[in-house]
Amino acid sequence: MTMSISTVQAVNNVRVSSHPIADVAVRPVFLMCAPTLYDVNYVINPWMAGNVHASSRERAVEQWQILYREVSRLGEVRLVDPQPGSPDMVFTANAGLERDGVVVLSSFFHEERQGEERHFQRWLEEAGYRVVTLPRETPFEGEGDALFSLDGSRLWVGYGPRTLISSHRRLSEVWPVEVVSLHLTDPRFYHLDTCFAPLEGGFVLYYPGAFDTDSLARIEAFYPKEMRIVVGKEDALRFVCNAVNVGETILMNNISERLAEELRSKGFCPVSIDLSEFLKAGGAAKCLVMRLDVERA
Ligand code: ARG
Repeated sequence: MTMSISTVQAVNNVRVSSHPIADVAVRPVFLMCAPTLYDVNYVINPWMAGNVHASSRERAVEQWQILYREVSRLGEVRLVDPQPGSPDMVFTANAGLERDGVVVLSSFFHEERQGEERHFQRWLEEAGYRVVTLPRETPFEGEGDALFSLDGSRLWVGYGPRTLISSHRRLSEVWPVEVVSLHLTDPRFYHLDTCFAPLEGGFVLYYPGAFDTDSLARIEAFYPKEMRIVVGKEDALRFVCNAVNVGETILMNNISERLAEELRSKGFCPVSIDLSEFLKAGGAAKCLVMRLDVERA
């Protein structure tokens, strides 16, 4: 099914004409993993501290189902089976990074998540993707830390807490893109997708407090001021940058009315979904969804 959203109309009849939100010609494919084995079992980020076994699986399932339903409106959702001993597998954005049928598989920094790699690899290979693996010495956490600019010409890659900068060169060998490294300096924003989201229409949603000065300068040199949607600390701590954006729709955790209004004024339609159970593990909407551009097998 083809979805055309070329005539996005912003509130107050303001049209976003200089940077129209792109047509979605092909329905994207998303990979998700049901939280039937989800739990906070260990602490590998500051969000998990104090939350070990403190999440409700029942509520997690309810919240995930709402997200699943919304994501299904935006594209085709594929499911990978949860595996015992891998409670963080729900965060499929960390499986790897896909483009043109090639997936660079994650090489997790923490041992606690390394067991997920083979499950994701099997699923991706069976689905017809070519999987490239990285050595253990170059940790890389997939879409959690690597996001393409809207036109695909540039790959923003975070480094510091998880992904090491040494993996970035490898990515530019796999795809002909300019890899731009961004240093994450606040342990609460340990993945790039927790504080930075390139959006349709050439906009970017980001929390400046998560980056060092040079990285901020790189972001601000690429996105002109009018294309930057700056997120304040409170929204950032609700992981609103951890957003799934297709066309005008943006799925995200609870958001302030001020930010919602700003997004609407730029032609977007923010949809808030309470993902509090996943915040306890340090994740929200975008972490729970891996984007694959087309159907393979
Ligand atoms: N508990 C998981 C971890 O610390 C959460 C992953 C969130 N995923 C993301 N794409 N930011 O690895």
